[in-house]
Amino acid sequence: MLARCKAPGVDLVSPSSSAVRRAEQQRLVAGGTVREFNLVAAPAEIQLAGKPVSTWAYGGAVPGPEIRVRAGEILQVNFRNDLITETSIHWHGLAIRNDMDGVPPITQKSVGAKQDFTYRFTVPDPGTYFFHPHVGLQLDRGLYAPLIVEDPAEPGAYDQEIVLLLDDWTDGVGMLPEKLFSDLKSASAQMPGMDMGGGDSAMDEPSPEAMAGPLKGDPGDITYPLYLINGKAKTDPQTFQVKKGQRVRLRVINAASDTAFRFAVQDHALQVTHTDGFAVEAAPADAVLVGMGERFDAVLEVAGDGPYAVVAAAEGKSNLARANLRTGTGEAAPPEFLPSNLNGNLVQLAALSGAPGGRLAEKKPDRVHDLRLGGNMQRYSWTINGKTHEDSEPLVVEAGERVRLIFRNESTMFHPMHLHGHTFQVLRQTGVGPRKDTVMVLPDERVIVDFDADNPGVWALHCHNLYHQEAGMMVNLGYLRPDP
Ligand code: C2O
Ligand code: CU
Repeated sequence: MLARCKAPGVDLVSPSSSAVRRAEQQRLVAGGTVREFNLVAAPAEIQLAGKPVSTWAYGGAVPGPEIRVRAGEILQVNFRNDLITETSIHWHGLAIRNDMDGVPPITQKSVGAKQDFTYRFTVPDPGTYFFHPHVGLQLDRGLYAPLIVEDPAEPGAYDQEIVLLLDDWTDGVGMLPEKLFSDLKSASAQMPGMDMGGGDSAMDEPSPEAMAGPLKGDPGDITYPLYLINGKAKTDPQTFQVKKGQRVRLRVINAASDTAFRFAVQDHALQVTHTDGFAVEAAPADAVLVGMGERFDAVLEVAGDGPYAVVAAAEGKSNLARANLRTGTGEAAPPEFLPSNLNGNLVQLAALSGAPGGRLAEKKPDRVHDLRLGGNMQRYSWTINGKTHEDSEPLVVEAGERVRLIFRNESTMFHPMHLHGHTFQVLRQTGVGPRKDTVMVLPDERVIVDFDADNPGVWALHCHNLYHQEAGMMVNLGYLRPDP
């Protein structure tokens, strides 16, 4: 066999190739039902903290309408773009066919203004997901919605389910996302010779408090005027009716662009059961840290009577989002209320282990990619291996390989790294880490993940801080075209 050239210009499987169609054929479940939804993206007026706010939304609401299907079904979304600009939909976390992944210009042409596009694919794995555009800074408007994939084999050990989407909000209240981004760029340009920092101005060294916090450095580049749970500000929280003794399953999704949340429910312990859709060994938690693009499921048992505050504290940003659980009458705690369990046992990546159903088979990696995560202060550019997306060459894998990614964070801010089209297993010295598609890599940390290259195509691998992604922190991962 001839040695194959692995340098730039390698021949990669394209989204429209027969390999992608074959992979979809293998996913098809005989008799799989087609579930059809209509979805419109359009300018909308919503109410935030009692005021009308203009934004862009799916179906006129923030979050957009929930899509709920069962694993094995075929999801068809008849999508209409009534925005004034091009867009796309990315089905975050789902390992679907490459040409439906919604990443223009890589996996499809963007959907132009006033154009339609039909997304249609087999839904492979149960779990908690969401969808959002993969164009520019559109996710930091109101364009996001939950995608829940039910498990036909789920034991259903709970009485009620509550889906909670967390977000940081500026559109129509503070600056437009595009303005925030250009300000970050110009603020950076005025501060030559410093490492990429963070905090409010994206230019300070992290404070001692920030270094001591769970993010071990800068909590973000932007301070938002509002933080939301299910499109509601803390002064106008959504209230869920529950009953004492009920087991409630929470599906928590961080749809924010620049904010990690510390999540807790007043007077209640949580049992974390899933991360990014996959089962973990049940982990007791007082609070859970959730990065952008991450999801977790947790069960709680309603302990007593009274309203309970559901709090998503914007980590390191001195603000919060809020909802309520309510069993009867009684006055809910004030908007600023911080339940004490926010400072209790905080579950992060290290506390989570993959459950038997959520583990990859043991195997040595066939290929290893090193990914150094860094930033360049002068240009507000964020990089992988020193390169922005524009300047990068695709990472190459071959179908059938076990692939290892080694993330090293050389910057002063955390990066929730997200891989499209696959879920990886986080590696541990001892034991098995959780299966995930988005993993927090903290400053100076190294995180190693393995995945099976079983879904041909060209896939995005990027930081789920939207501003980092826009500033270049993304690389393509492509499958070598097999020998003819
Ligand atoms: Cu939600 Cu490319 O990501
Ligand atoms: Cu980042």
